[in-house]
Amino acid sequence: MKGTSDASGLPFFVRGGDMLDDGVTGLMAAMPEELQAVLGLIDGPRQCFEHGQREFHIGHIAGKTVVAAHSRCGKVAAAATATEMIVRFGVERIIFTGLAGALDHDLHIGDVVVADELMQHDLDARPLFPRFEVPLMGASRFRCDAALAEVVMRAAHDLVSSDMRPAVGEDVAGRLHIHAPSVRRGLIVSGDQFIASNTQRDALRDALPGAMCVEMEGATVAQVAHDYGVPVAVVRVISDAADDHAGTRFPDSLRCIAGVYARALISRLFRF
Ligand code: ADE
Repeated sequence: MKGTSDASGLPFFVRGGDMLDDGVTGLMAAMPEELQAVLGLIDGPRQCFEHGQREFHIGHIAGKTVVAAHSRCGKVAAAATATEMIVRFGVERIIFTGLAGALDHDLHIGDVVVADELMQHDLDARPLFPRFEVPLMGASRFRCDAALAEVVMRAAHDLVSSDMRPAVGEDVAGRLHIHAPSVRRGLIVSGDQFIASNTQRDALRDALPGAMCVEMEGATVAQVAHDYGVPVAVVRVISDAADDHAGTRFPDSLRCIAGVYARALISRLFRF
């Protein structure tokens, strides 16, 4: 199989289903709407455990064991959930799916971004440490697992090459201008702020010119995963432009596309 490629143009080197065969895969999302969609993919019965005021659902998707949880929003919530997944449930990898505000000029609602690295845009311990650097770690960026990210890319390409319009509904696709969604890979930045003004967005673009999109959890999940040596992938669907309209666009996207995308992405990951 090595050296061949599929319709997405990506090299075919690993099948998602094969990669998720071993051990437990942790599936995280910040919002209950996204988690519900993922839980709908679990075949047969599932067990639910409550720890740290969060519910962890254990079951199987296409014969592979998963533990799924919604973390709630923000860096602390995400880090706590990721730690619990690793320490208590022994996950072998974590895949985080959710929404993000676009920073890159060419990203639009419905486009998909797969992280190759993540950082906290609001971390600033100057003058003790350089801006964005995690104190005493000597690093500001945390890389995703290359093979896992590649599998997520393949799922995302397959998703956008299918016709999303019937899945999200013609009216929603028209209203949100979802025509031919693209898939990008790059830097995702996280912070404990919902970016909802042109001024905030421009400040982020100036500070981090390479950043594709902004959200509130991914970088801390990547940091925790790094600390424990667990592979991680973060995939985000653009819900808004992190601009003056984000406050109304985000809830609309959450209601109309978050669950559809989360389900479509995760099901492809497991059933390839
Ligand atoms: N997640 C989705 N949109 C976002 C935004 N504008 N800011 C922060 N997190 C987000």
